[in-house]
Amino acid sequence: MNLRTLADIEDLKGKRVFVRVDFNVPLDDEGNVADDKRMRLALPTIRHLLDHGASQVILAFHLGRPKNNEPHLKANKVAMKLSELLGMDVVKVDDWGKNGLPEAKIVMLENTRFNPAEKSKDVAERDAFGKQMASLADLYVGEAFSNSHRDHASMTSVPKFIPGYAGLGVEQEVAALTKAISDPEHPLVAVIGGLKADKLKAIHNLLGVADQILVAGALATNLLKTKGYEIGASKADDEGMEERADIAKEIIASDKVQLPTDFVIADDFSESANVKIVPADSIEPGWMALDIGSKTREKYVSALSSAKTILWFGPIGVFEMVPFAEGTKVIGEAIASSDAVSIVGGGDSASAVKKLGLEDKMTLVSTGGGASLMMIEGKKLPALAALEK
Ligand code: 3PG
Ligand code: MG
Repeated sequence: MNLRTLADIEDLKGKRVFVRVDFNVPLDDEGNVADDKRMRLALPTIRHLLDHGASQVILAFHLGRPKNNEPHLKANKVAMKLSELLGMDVVKVDDWGKNGLPEAKIVMLENTRFNPAEKSKDVAERDAFGKQMASLADLYVGEAFSNSHRDHASMTSVPKFIPGYAGLGVEQEVAALTKAISDPEHPLVAVIGGLKADKLKAIHNLLGVADQILVAGALATNLLKTKGYEIGASKADDEGMEERADIAKEIIASDKVQLPTDFVIADDFSESANVKIVPADSIEPGWMALDIGSKTREKYVSALSSAKTILWFGPIGVFEMVPFAEGTKVIGEAIASSDAVSIVGGGDSASAVKKLGLEDKMTLVSTGGGASLMMIEGKKLPALAALEK
């Protein structure tokens, strides 16, 4: 991938630079930033721009998947965190469309997804919003690697109107992933967990590359639901499942794919819930699967033991809560202690690995889940394609 980078910018003096970051960070119960890893990754780019004379850095990003501009998804707390990390003022602006921008060095736009045009399916609508954002700046910098698999206005439309470059973090992450995945050694075993149903597309594509795919997380209950199992009150991401029905059936039918055979189930989404382990076909109504069971753990650890390359995307269970953390811990430790090349991807998996103290034992921990998977599948990421030479 031949990206235009910051080194290709001739002169930054006096330039207003629009920087699209991925500050889609986990928030705690008070709405404060719970893990600032993705934010820290963007700091070198922000500092580089300011050190080289940029007159203003305009940061844009999305937070969560708002349906109705939910107040808890406002960017305010993220702006506060960034200000703390940089030791500089960060001014968050709501109505930039009407009022323009204040003269501050660093401004942050409100959650881009509060405007439905950001992820509209209609390219003209996205471009109209992108043009409006582009009018705020002279240059565009894409520094949102982990969101680059999305064709959204702030990433693919803005650089249609002003020159676009890849940020330092994107440059590094693309180089590291390219190195780690070019010509992978087999057996290649992928562990795919988490919640998002759009990972089914990735699993489907991985069937061509991987020797075995171990499915966990809510993604697994989602597939079991497709299979006709009772999943009780378990979470299953419905977004786009209808279009993916055929893919889901193919995945289930593949002998490369393993699904959990037992689960830790609970009668409430809480640490103090009643908990038991049951076979995968015996989830009771009202109960939810929150981790893989002990038989599945054993089965997955044994599948990992012969791997030469391991991809791990998405937590195995709800590792933030003690009763449902065992699957993520056991699988994480099996990967960390293996001699295989290990690539871990996704914001939540990265947090889990950090929490378990296993970061240094992995070959590469990427901030990107869907984005890294798309690279591994050998596909072009729309937001990076927009920055190609
Ligand atoms: C992430 O956190 O995984 C990325 O920011 C992508 O978020 P999205 O799946 O809501 O586009
Ligand atoms: Mg994520």
